[in-house]
Amino acid sequence: ANPSLLILAGDGIGPEVMTEVKKIITWFGTKRGVHFDVTEDLVGGCAYDKHGTPLHDDTMARAMQVDAVLLGAVGGPAYDNLDFSVKPERGLLRLRKEMDLFSNLRPAQCFDALADFSSLKKDIISGLDIMIVRELTSGVYFGEPRGIFPDNEGGRVGVNTQRYTTNEIRRVARSAFELAKRRGNKVCSMEKANVMESGILWREEVQWVHDHEYPEVELSHMYADNGAMQLVRWPKQFDVIVTDNLFGDILSDCAAMLTGSLGMLPSASLGAVQANGRPKALYEPVHGSAPDIAGQGKANPIACILSFAMALRYSFDMGDDAARVEKAVETVLANGARTADLMDKDGGTPISTTQMGDAILAALDAS
Ligand code: NAI
Ligand code: MG
Repeated sequence: ANPSLLILAGDGIGPEVMTEVKKIITWFGTKRGVHFDVTEDLVGGCAYDKHGTPLHDDTMARAMQVDAVLLGAVGGPAYDNLDFSVKPERGLLRLRKEMDLFSNLRPAQCFDALADFSSLKKDIISGLDIMIVRELTSGVYFGEPRGIFPDNEGGRVGVNTQRYTTNEIRRVARSAFELAKRRGNKVCSMEKANVMESGILWREEVQWVHDHEYPEVELSHMYADNGAMQLVRWPKQFDVIVTDNLFGDILSDCAAMLTGSLGMLPSASLGAVQANGRPKALYEPVHGSAPDIAGQGKANPIACILSFAMALRYSFDMGDDAARVEKAVETVLANGARTADLMDKDGGTPISTTQMGDAILAALDAS
């Protein structure tokens, strides 16, 4: 059977950037003979407009069946005042929860053509290629008890609970070690074992998975605050970083900005490996629906295109083809193509979303 994809373009610039990805999917069919069975559906505000819910049950069911879900972005000012239970991001949260996507992959990769664009020194980031693996379904964002309660001084107390089980730590550690084997064979685990019990357990369980299952991969441990500093000081010391939900949220945003624009950043969220050998998977750009530029043809489609490249690599075992897409992006940037987000204030004329997509297609064709 052909590999199957569910495309949920979503709101704002989501459909604009996804249009460019669909051209690449078509290219794989006509030029490479790799045909994907593609279904398209609604998520977020557009789903709410049609169904009164940001994710219809039928869409959820389809997401559970396909090999991979590709999502654009959700949200926008039109939906800001909706009830919490039907807000656009609830559609995305439901997908993550029901697919049990516990491992969030956020690469920070420097395209040399953009090295000057970063706020960091060129030698610190040129050639940078690291991967942050963030635990996505547990920890302090989900732990019970949680809430705002009256305290015993007549005030209130806000409570969240950091909680991790052996199984939760081991499964995300495995996904980091598996990744490392396909990359630089090095994992650095980050926590705060100096001040948190959940950090002590994290460190012990990651070490356990290493010793029993991946002794051939190099493992180190680092306190997360030092990790933040090291990421900015000398990020090339890392290959794969594995960390919990909260630290991963912060460290991945920090690492992301080492290399430039939000319009360049892909992500993958993976769950358990299924009977067919593929993990449950959702791929999406890191950016949101960008209402400030939506409908103007200004959005950078590269983050979404690179998310599709991650799908090729991690869901479909098409690492060479993924590299080919990434190389096409690199080529186009090296030739000077820039959407508006990749330009300095005095930097010449930007190209449109469509022009960027077409340039990448042409580079693919030539590869
Ligand atoms: P945003 O990522 O949509 O935009 C932040 C800034 O980056 C804006 O100035 C935008 O124009 C720019 N930008 C983002 N992506 C770009 C691209 N591909 N090309 C060029 N410029 C780009 O974040 P913001 O403004 O905080 O949120 C806007 C809406 O998106 C909100 O409704 C928010 O809830 C939603 N959102 C959705 C996410 C998702 O679907 N995963 C993630 C983050 C926000
Ligand atoms: Mg964040």
